Amino acid sequence: MQLDSGERGREIWGSRLGFVLAAAGSAIGLGNVWRFPYLAGQNGGAAFVFIYLAIVLLIGLPVMMAEVGLGRFTRRNPVGAFAKIVPQSGWRMVGVLGVITGFAILSYYSVVAGWTLRYLVKAATGAFTSLTDPGQTGALFEQTVGDIQTVLTFHALFMVLTVAVVIGGVRQGIERWTLILMPALFLLLLLLVLRSVTLEGASKGIAFYLNPDFSEVTGATFLAALGQAFFSLSLGMGAMITYGSYLSEREDAVIATASVSLFDTLAAFLAGLAIFPALFTVEGAEPTQGAGLAFVVLPAIFHRIPFGGLFGTVFFVLLAVAALTSAISLLEVCVAYLTDEKGWTRKMACCLVGVVSFVLGIPAALSTGASTFLSRLPLVHMGFLDLMDTIFGNVALTLGALLLCLFVGWRWLPEDALTGTMEGSAYPRLAHVWLFLIRYLCPLAIGAILLQTLIKLLLSG
Ligand code: TRP
Repeated sequence: MQLDSGERGREIWGSRLGFVLAAAGSAIGLGNVWRFPYLAGQNGGAAFVFIYLAIVLLIGLPVMMAEVGLGRFTRRNPVGAFAKIVPQSGWRMVGVLGVITGFAILSYYSVVAGWTLRYLVKAATGAFTSLTDPGQTGALFEQTVGDIQTVLTFHALFMVLTVAVVIGGVRQGIERWTLILMPALFLLLLLLVLRSVTLEGASKGIAFYLNPDFSEVTGATFLAALGQAFFSLSLGMGAMITYGSYLSEREDAVIATASVSLFDTLAAFLAGLAIFPALFTVEGAEPTQGAGLAFVVLPAIFHRIPFGGLFGTVFFVLLAVAALTSAISLLEVCVAYLTDEKGWTRKMACCLVGVVSFVLGIPAALSTGASTFLSRLPLVHMGFLDLMDTIFGNVALTLGALLLCLFVGWRWLPEDALTGTMEGSAYPRLAHVWLFLIRYLCPLAIGAILLQTLIKLLLSG
């Protein structure tokens, strides 16, 4: 790939592929491989899957186009992007909210990614081979995430890896890594799917996952799918504004964002297709298991399939790789802000954000057993990690996406918004469809998630 220099010498992706790989790397992460299957399992399987697909197309994709268009038009980090379009206004605070959100999500994302690294080592060293049922893997999971030394060591290791990649800069770091990592990820996923669907008794899981029963669908199902789409596509905190700011005007942003959404959705779909057929072949394993699904049930499943140790290792390598390319984008948003707006050097910004984010992750790491107080905080009645995920991974992202839609749809000049998203596109006719979605459908739908989350919070508090 050749090096281009963008407006004001800012680095830009060597090709559209560079953007697609890096943005897909951001989108595909723990959200797809771990969060999507467990939500699908809890929300009735196939019906959730179909609703999710519709939401990605009607809401996720238009919001991603808005973020990428804003970044490409302004060539700035999230804070600078808002400030460039309406200087001296409160809108830049939406960018600030995004930077804070990214930093906060990174802190506990690194903790969960640390568990993944630990499980990778466990699988590779054959720790699962002596287990027979999900009950045992549940105890193993609790023991693993409840051990101070383990959680902190692997949390630190993951953060160091993330910082190391981001210090390399946009081109030498992210682009080069994702070019190697993303295709490998899909190959590994396909391998797992192939093994899973050919297991004896797999048909029950395939039916659960692909044969929808819409009679069980409630408003909560719909809203769960909507929230998952934002988390999974990395929307609502400026990650895609930042990545869009490195995208050339000559590239087709419609094709680029559609490709990213497609790869992300495909990864989630394949992850589910790997998990459910195998899950149903294990007696006692439930699709409604919840957040522990991947870590509690999979080791037991891998143990019962031929070469399970190998497949287990492959799966956790895959999850760790996906988590790393996602964490890179969370860190990149903070780093782009500090280098663009505050004039910091890239190295200093990376190291400082990495260290502070690691420290903020410590209470989250201790909240899964090591500290009784942090595991069950008074007033909110949840662990510190869950609290962080609720505030930042849910409320702040949703609020950020809502404000972004209002800004792009109503505050930004429509001509400029259309230039940002549509310039270089082979599909100019889609412009009015996009503008309609971003002005009406998206803000209404996102507003509904936010309201539902707040009501739930108030009721449980
Ligand atoms: N999308 C990633 C995942 O599915 C997580 C993630 C990375 C993210 N960057 C983000 C979520 C920005 C929201 C916003 O695991």
